Amino acid sequence: MRKVTVTLRHDAVIGDTDPRLFGAFVEHVGRCIYGGIFEPGHPEADANGFRRDVLALVRELRPAMVRYPGGNFVSGYNWEDGVGPREDRPRRLDLAWGATETNQFGTNEFIDWCALAGAEPMLAVNLGTRGGDAARNLLEYCNHPQGTAWSDLRRRHGWAQPHGVKLWCLGNEMDAPWQMETKGAHEYGRVAAEAAKLMKWTQPDIELAACGSSGRNMPTFGGWEETVLQHTFEHVDYISLHTYLNNYAQDTEAFLASSDLMDGFIDEVVAIADSVGASKQSGKRIMLSFDEWNVWYRTRGNAEGARAKPGWPVAPPILEEIYTMRDALAFGGACISLLNHADRVKVACLAQLVNAIAPIMTETGGPAWRQTIFHPFAQMSRFGRGRVLRAEIDSPGYQACYYDPVPGAELRFALPAVPYLKLAAVEDPVGALTLFALNRHLQEPMPLEVSVQGYGSLSIAQAQQLQHHDLDAANTRDEPDKVAPAPLEGVTMDANRVHATLLPASWNLIRLSSG
Ligand code: AHR
Repeated sequence: MRKVTVTLRHDAVIGDTDPRLFGAFVEHVGRCIYGGIFEPGHPEADANGFRRDVLALVRELRPAMVRYPGGNFVSGYNWEDGVGPREDRPRRLDLAWGATETNQFGTNEFIDWCALAGAEPMLAVNLGTRGGDAARNLLEYCNHPQGTAWSDLRRRHGWAQPHGVKLWCLGNEMDAPWQMETKGAHEYGRVAAEAAKLMKWTQPDIELAACGSSGRNMPTFGGWEETVLQHTFEHVDYISLHTYLNNYAQDTEAFLASSDLMDGFIDEVVAIADSVGASKQSGKRIMLSFDEWNVWYRTRGNAEGARAKPGWPVAPPILEEIYTMRDALAFGGACISLLNHADRVKVACLAQLVNAIAPIMTETGGPAWRQTIFHPFAQMSRFGRGRVLRAEIDSPGYQACYYDPVPGAELRFALPAVPYLKLAAVEDPVGALTLFALNRHLQEPMPLEVSVQGYGSLSIAQAQQLQHHDLDAANTRDEPDKVAPAPLEGVTMDANRVHATLLPASWNLIRLSSG
């Protein structure tokens, strides 16, 4: 491959990352909660039943914020079932995933767990089977200090201090046919606006995210966002986006290109939100909450099939995607897309955190380990916080066609110009610069030259790569570190020009510090 060049300028900036860009998501699905973050009786469980080994891995990932309790689950959830004495909590059928929900873990346990994980909680309210009244009661239960029935109930349950939850989702994927009590855009827009009003009247300084359509591939996409924002614009702060990258077509080049569609998706939602703002003569900017994103396809049949599961099992092992090296590359591309839209994407949640489509896997009663996708996220979360620079990239590219089906439609998206290099550059608060670089060429190494302008003298502080000759390689209980970051050798610097050679199909991190 010919030399790929990148120019970075100190003053060419996309925006500052919000810590909430490095968020994650835990849902009552499969073994995410039960057998994942919460497993009383496990040798590593603390007095609350939280797995300490899982918490240690979560802290390594450093999600600044975690969304809860769903996902599809929330659209049938009665939050009251999950608070109060455990022995009084009802067992319920969960129609989202075809399971029995024991309610042994609920809102208060989640808040405690977040404190241990060092993450801010983001709560979703049920706008499927319920509405504004249940939502404002939950908010009052969580955040009102005392002196009302709901806040005093929380205090009697053992949480004297308010939880102080700032960030709330107004339902989940309300356009999706798989959602309990799916809604049309006008219908949802009205319900969301009224719920938002009640919630902001209860506590004006909370932040609210309205549901965007459940994917760019949905027939509702575009019109849904417009209509929902026409109803909710004055009341909400964010509109949500969800994307799960897939490799159903077993076309690695298209799979690695697919995160570029996330870039387009973000740009389109920004355009719609700003056009609604313009139609209202408003200077307000709706920000984006990319509150579900990941690679997910192998176990996706479960999403529809789970309802038919016999016996209504408790915490069945569903959605347990085993991630490969190939998946980590596509995932890394998504990380770069998010960083490069830091000006408008202020919230993002890796979906999910443990066992169900997750960077952390556990064995019930056994160990916990890092999946391949753990590594790009951990690096982004650790080194990606700061000012994102606008990179000028000159890279050869390729063409791809990405297959992205939704129930009832076989969609194909043409990607006519996919640069082999995908890159984000972030300057942290102490002036160190981190490059996240994906070489999407499957056979050829990439000679890379990065010119860094407007900085004092820089030197290489660290260089790592995630690469494996077998793109199907995965980490397992017995081989937990088969795919793990290793030093990237041969990175040099002269006159603020970085020279490196990136291996084919590799994710790379290069850190430059001053001096
Ligand atoms: O994250 C898994 C599921 O994907 C969520 O429950 C839902 O919101 C989405 O369809």
